[in-house]
Amino acid sequence: MIHLPQIESPGVKVWGRLTSAVVSVLTLIGTHPKHERRGAGTMLIRWGFAQADKNQERCYVDSSNVGYALYKRCGFLEDVGKMSVDLDQYGPQGLGVQTWVAMLREPQVKTSD
Ligand SMILES: CC(C)(COP(=O)(O)OP(=O)(O)OC[C@H]1O[C@@H](n2cnc3c(N)ncnc32)[C@H](O)[C@@H]1OP(=O)(O)O)[C@@H](O)C(=O)NCCC(=O)NCCS
Repeated sequence: MIHLPQIESPGVKVWGRLTSAVVSVLTLIGTHPKHERRGAGTMLIRWGFAQADKNQERCYVDSSNVGYALYKRCGFLEDVGKMSVDLDQYGPQGLGVQTWVAMLREPQVKTSD
C-alpha cells in the first residue's frame, strides 16, 4: 500500500474521477500459487484498509480478473471504471486481452463502545 496525496495512476487519469482526491492506492498483491486460498491475500488487503481508515482515506485498486471477487468481498464495493488492454501488442504472445476493474472503498468510521 502506498499513500499518494494526489493519484498519478494512468488508469485514474483516464477515468478522471479521482484526480484530486486523497486516497490510498492498493498496488499489485500476489500470493504464490502453491499457497493461494489460505487467507494471505485477505490479510494484505485488510492491513491496507486499516492504514486507510486511520487517515480516513478512500482506497483504490486496479483489480485483475482473479482478484475481483476477493476485493469485492473484502469491501471494495464500488466499481468506478474498467480498462481492457491487448497485451499481445506489447510483449510475449498469448496473454491476449486482459481487463482491470477500478474499485473504490470508502473509509470506515469506528464507533466507540
Ligand atoms: C488474487 C490473489 C492475491 C489472492 O491471494 P490469496 O492468498 O489466495 O487470497 P485469499 O486466500 O485471502 O482469498 C481467496 C480468494 O482469492 C481468489 N483466488 C485465489 N486464488 C485463485 C485462483 N487460482 N483462481 C481464481 N481465484 C482465486 C478467490 O476469490 C478466492 O476465494 P474462493 O476460494 O472463495 O474462491 C492471488 O490469487 C494472486 O496472487 N493472483 C495472481 C496475481 C493477481 O491477480 N493479483 C491481484 C492483482 S490486483
